[in-house]
Amino acid sequence: MQLINTIKELNSLLESLDKSKTIGLVPTMGALHLGHLSLIEQAVKENDFTIVSIFVNPTQFDNKEDLAKYPNTLNEDISLLKSVSDNLIIFAPNANEIYSGNISSQSYDFEGLENVMEGEFREGHFNGVGTIVEKLLTLTNPTRAYFGEKDFQQLQIIRKLVEIKNLPVTIIGCPIVREPSGLAMSSRNERLSESLRKEAAFIYKTLKSAKEKIGTKSVGYVIHWAKEEFSKHPSLDLEYIKIVDEAKLQAVDTIDKSTKYRAFVAVYAGDVRLIDNIAL
Ligand code: PAF
Repeated sequence: MQLINTIKELNSLLESLDKSKTIGLVPTMGALHLGHLSLIEQAVKENDFTIVSIFVNPTQFDNKEDLAKYPNTLNEDISLLKSVSDNLIIFAPNANEIYSGNISSQSYDFEGLENVMEGEFREGHFNGVGTIVEKLLTLTNPTRAYFGEKDFQQLQIIRKLVEIKNLPVTIIGCPIVREPSGLAMSSRNERLSESLRKEAAFIYKTLKSAKEKIGTKSVGYVIHWAKEEFSKHPSLDLEYIKIVDEAKLQAVDTIDKSTKYRAFVAVYAGDVRLIDNIAL
């Protein structure tokens, strides 16, 4: 296990590695949970070296309070990482190291992927994600980089980033890991009260029922039905539910068998914003 904090240390470590070896990168913002560990385990299996970055990226937070409340658990994260492998490289820089005193995002054109769903409700979020992911990919030059499907829109945007910037990396999307209740694992779940955490299981339950219904009912009907279901749960405030095609993330009215679709939701449980999605 090597813990490095500076780009200088990162560069000298990378220079010392045999160039024929493969590198897996798992970018994280810390507050690690089993979802992250599944990405890291996959990276360890598929690569000679695995770098886990831990950096709470300020430019992707549209909400200052959300950034301030974001858990900082570096010591616990390091212990968890040790339990996965002794051989990880942990890159945990500070904001100055990454942004050199200019904490701002670049502006990207992700061909419309950035304007829907999370992009509609979180202004500037995907410019921040693009900025940090491009920096991390350029700094570490990995063979493969791993991202969870819980942030499916982010995953598609990162694929687009790699395409438009022509970056020599394979992006690997990994399945959502869920709590026994079905709630998608997220660092934000720690902020839920015990009762809201139980209630939040309703999110995945509704997505699963929506998936069943889409076989026999229209898209419009299923969306209307899901909104009605959420309205019966006043502790969960539905921000959006969308049924979109996986490639362009555009809302659809009809489903055809040759295209892949997903249903996406964003829900407030108290002041905690949760997102989830399901392949249809
Ligand atoms: O998914 C996340 O945790 C973040 O958006 C990422 C990819 C680490 C970029 O900061």
